[in-house]
Amino acid sequence: MIRLVIAVDGYSSCGKSTFAKAIAKELNHLYIDSGAMCRAVTLYGIRNSIVDKQEIQTDKLIEVLDSIEIDFKKNDGDVYETYLNGENIENEIRGVMVSECVSNVSKIREVRSKLVILQRGFARNKGVVMDGRDIGTVVFPDADMKIFMTAKPEIRAKRRFDELTEKGLHVDFQEIMKNIEERDIIDSTRKESPLRKADDAIVLDNSYMTPDEQMIWFKNIISKHLAK
Ligand code: DC
Repeated sequence: MIRLVIAVDGYSSCGKSTFAKAIAKELNHLYIDSGAMCRAVTLYGIRNSIVDKQEIQTDKLIEVLDSIEIDFKKNDGDVYETYLNGENIENEIRGVMVSECVSNVSKIREVRSKLVILQRGFARNKGVVMDGRDIGTVVFPDADMKIFMTAKPEIRAKRRFDELTEKGLHVDFQEIMKNIEERDIIDSTRKESPLRKADDAIVLDNSYMTPDEQMIWFKNIISKHLAK
């Protein structure tokens, strides 16, 4: 059985987690959503009145970092869900409040250092696909394979718009587009571990690809990798 460490990085809303989950399933590997880990820390901060939209009490958040335990467990449908101190928080971390605060929490160096230790722990026995922003550059610079995902901003905005509309939410396309462009800027210009393509990452631009086509693309590159 193969046991690889595969890093999947890229911009917001370009389908990283759908793709990373699919390849983890294909390889029978563990899937770790590192964005969910940032969201879990953010939720802990919000619940303890340390984080809100206006302000983050950075010193207090750093002080309580040791009280935060994050884990992933498979649910009945074989999908990994996020746990904070033993509680399933998978749905709560996708909410608006966490989404609005998470970029600023993710900028804090001490938060990132804690998460990197946990992320490396998940890969102790290899056999992991992890998605995020700095997985190929900082967390696993020696990953067996690095994939950098991108898609045109207007296509990412359209996908996000369709996803939210399908959930029955009334959203404005231009607002979503603006939010995606802002997050691209925050993620790629921040001081700590900015989003950038690792020199040895393979680029996957999925602007005009279906999930099935992405899987064909992956099977092609993994078979070349294994044949090396
Ligand atoms: O992938 P996502 O949208 O759930 O990520 C949420 C936030 O976490 C996003 O603003 C960037 C940040 N993040 C990060 O800084 N480093 C990672 N490895 C993953 C996510």
